[in-house]
Amino acid sequence: MDSKIKTEPTVFVVFGGTGDLTSRKIAPALYNLFLDGWMPAQFAIIGTGRTHFTDDKFRENLLDDINQFSRSGKAAKAKWDAFSKNIFYQVSDINDAASYKQFGKHVDKFNSDWKVKANLIYYLAVSPNFFPIIASNISKAKLATDPLKVRIVIEKPFGHDLETAKELNKLLSGIFNECQIYRIDHYLGKETVQNMMAFRFANSIMEPLWNRNYIEHVQISVTEQLGVEERGDYYDGAGAMRDMIQNHLLQLLCHIAMEPPVSFNADEVRNRKVDVLKAMRRFSPDDVRMSAVRGQYGSGWMEGKEVPGYREEPKVNPDSNTETFAAVKFFVDNWRWQDVPFYARTGKRMHQSSSVITIQFKDVPHLIFPIEAVESWQQNRLIISIQPEMSIRLQVQAKRPGLDMVLNTVDMVFDYKGTYTTQPPEAYETLILDTMLGDQTLFMRADQVEAAWDLIMPILSTWQAKKSLNFPNYSADSWGPESAEALIARDGFNWFTLPVSKKS
Ligand code: BG6
Repeated sequence: MDSKIKTEPTVFVVFGGTGDLTSRKIAPALYNLFLDGWMPAQFAIIGTGRTHFTDDKFRENLLDDINQFSRSGKAAKAKWDAFSKNIFYQVSDINDAASYKQFGKHVDKFNSDWKVKANLIYYLAVSPNFFPIIASNISKAKLATDPLKVRIVIEKPFGHDLETAKELNKLLSGIFNECQIYRIDHYLGKETVQNMMAFRFANSIMEPLWNRNYIEHVQISVTEQLGVEERGDYYDGAGAMRDMIQNHLLQLLCHIAMEPPVSFNADEVRNRKVDVLKAMRRFSPDDVRMSAVRGQYGSGWMEGKEVPGYREEPKVNPDSNTETFAAVKFFVDNWRWQDVPFYARTGKRMHQSSSVITIQFKDVPHLIFPIEAVESWQQNRLIISIQPEMSIRLQVQAKRPGLDMVLNTVDMVFDYKGTYTTQPPEAYETLILDTMLGDQTLFMRADQVEAAWDLIMPILSTWQAKKSLNFPNYSADSWGPESAEALIARDGFNWFTLPVSKKS
C-alpha cells in the first residue's frame, strides 16, 4: 500500500524488549504497521533487556509472539523475513552507562549506513519505577540532544499520585521538550474512541442536543471479566481508581464533555480536554462518602470455572485493602454540563467484559399517548459501545406494527461489523504510528495527567485513610457491590448494560 503520509527513517528502541507488553502489543503492532505499508523504508527495532539473547533468538521469540497475538494471524514467511531483518537485540542494564553508550553506537551505525539522521524513539515498556533512571541515563549519555529527532514514549501508570506525577513530569521536562514526550493512554488509540470525536464534531445534528438542556445523565462503564491475573504486584499498589479511572475513564469522559476544538491540531484538542478536567467538581471527604464507591471481588464461578477472590490471587496481600471496583459520580461545572451527573464505573471479575458509554436524554415534556401505548416507554439513549461490540446506537420510540398504537424502543444502529469489511487497527498500531509521525493528539500532555490526578486525589486519600471493613464485597461474575447500584439508584437511574451480542 502506498501510504499518503510517509514515515521517516526511524530507530525504535524498546526498553523492556523481552516483556509482556512487547510480546502482546508492541511487536504485533510494529509488524502490522509493516504489513500495511506504514513502516519507513529504513527502520530498525532494537529490543533491550537483561536476558542474553542473540538477534536471531530475539527475532524467533517475537515471531512466536506475533503468531500468537497479531490481529493478522500467523506471519507469512516472506513478509516476516523482510520485517525481521530490521530487528536487533541489545543486552543492557538500565543502570549502567555503558549500555547507553552501546545504544549510541548502534544508532550512529544506522545513521551512517542509511546516510540520514533517523528519528530515534525510546519506548519505555518497563515498570514505572524505571522511568526516571532510563530517562536520566539517556540524557547523561547525550542520546537526547536533538529535539526534532528524539522522542520518548512512556507507558502508564504515569505517577502513583499527583506528587509523583509532577516529579516525573519535572524530570522529563528537564531532558525533553513536551513535544518529544508521548504519554500513552491506549484507550485513546482505540478506533471507537477516536470515532467519538468524528461523531460529535463531524455531524451538525449532535451539537444542539449535546448539553444540559437535553442530556439527563451520562454513564461510562468499563467492566472486565478478567481478574488481576499475574499482575498482583503492580495492581495491589494501584487499584481500580489509579489503574482505570485516573486515565482511561476520565479520558472517555473528556471526549463526551469537551467543547469543540478549533481544529484537529494536537494542542487544540488537548486544550479542550484539559478544560473538562479543570471544570470537574472537586470532592470534599463528605462528597467522597456520597459520590464514590469501592469494591473488591471475592471468589466465585466464571463461565463454569471456579475463580479465587482478589486476596487469594498471586502476589496480592491476603489482607489487601485495594479496590478492584470503583464507581464515581462526577460533575462538570460549566455552562454546558452544570448539574448533569456523569457516572463512571469499572471493575474486574465482573459479569461482562464491555466498555460502553450511555447518554440518556431527558424525557419528553408532555406525553400524548394513552398509558396502554407506552408500557415499555423509555427515554432516548445514545449508546456508544467501545468494545467488544463496536457500535453506536440511538434508542428511540417507534410504533409497533399493528392496528393499535403501542410504542416500542427500537435501535438505530451504526455497527462497524456491518458497515466495514476491513479489520480496524489495534490501538497500539495507531499510537506507535503517531509516535513515528510526530502527532501527539492521542497522547496525554503533562497538564492533563496532573489535572486527572488532582481530581481523584481526595478519593484516594479518603480511601487510604479508612480501610474498607466489608471487603470482599462483590462476588466474581456479578455487577459489583450493591452500593454501586445504590449510587445511581438514589438519583432515579440504573446502570445500563448492552446484551452480549452473539459471537459470529
Ligand atoms: C490497562 C489496565 O491500562 O487497561 C488493565 O492496566 C486493564 O488493568 C486494561 O485490564 C484494559 O484494557 P482493554 O484495552 O483490554 O480494555
